[in-house]
Amino acid sequence: MTAIQGFIFDLDGVLTETSEFHYLSWRQLADEEGLSFTREDNEQLRGISRRESLMKLLKGKTLPEDTIQDYMYRKNAYYHQHLQTMTPDDCLPGVRELIDDALANNLKIGVGSASRNALPVLEKLELVDRFNIIGDGNSVKNSKPAPDVFLWVAGGLRIAPKNIVVFEDAEAGIEAAKIAGFNTIGIGSPDIVGEADKLVPSLQGITVDKVLQFFAQQA
Ligand code: BG6
Ligand code: MG
Repeated sequence: MTAIQGFIFDLDGVLTETSEFHYLSWRQLADEEGLSFTREDNEQLRGISRRESLMKLLKGKTLPEDTIQDYMYRKNAYYHQHLQTMTPDDCLPGVRELIDDALANNLKIGVGSASRNALPVLEKLELVDRFNIIGDGNSVKNSKPAPDVFLWVAGGLRIAPKNIVVFEDAEAGIEAAKIAGFNTIGIGSPDIVGEADKLVPSLQGITVDKVLQFFAQQA
């Protein structure tokens, strides 16, 4: 019998692609404040918290705490406006099939996201009820690359990290999962998730059988 008993999915970039919404929202704030912010800059924000994203956007510029709070509040308000356009069709290819397959195979599944908006996003995708547990930016203090959110979810699933596969699209997420001893599947380019145990271009065509076979060979 296989040792893998559960899957933990990152949200943004794994279950749905919200990076354009994050980009447009930071971009609006940056334009209003006369800061430069490109799509390339936005790529550096994958997987990291709202506050750390703002720090990167500020590129070393320091601001009083109330201005920082105001900037984060405004960016999040713009993000929520974009979220209103999201529908269940915005699930990335292969996601629903893999979730169905995991549940049919009696695996436990969770979400481990850095976002404080994980719940509204999963509601828009109509996925909330499918997961055994949802961990997000509100569940833990330290965000990725700290392993806290994945450990929090694993604790809720009552499964040890070595028996769980984490699906991630961000370098910080792969680092977080590996530090804590999870098995990892990186989604996307080797430049970003090259440290993962296995790389796939997307979840399309990924089945429980394929995942279990891969980690059985690794053992
Ligand atoms: C991560 C995204 O999932 O959540 C990051 O990849 C984002 O780009 C982070 O900055 C925090 O999101 P939120 O919704 O809490 O502002
Ligand atoms: Mg992500």
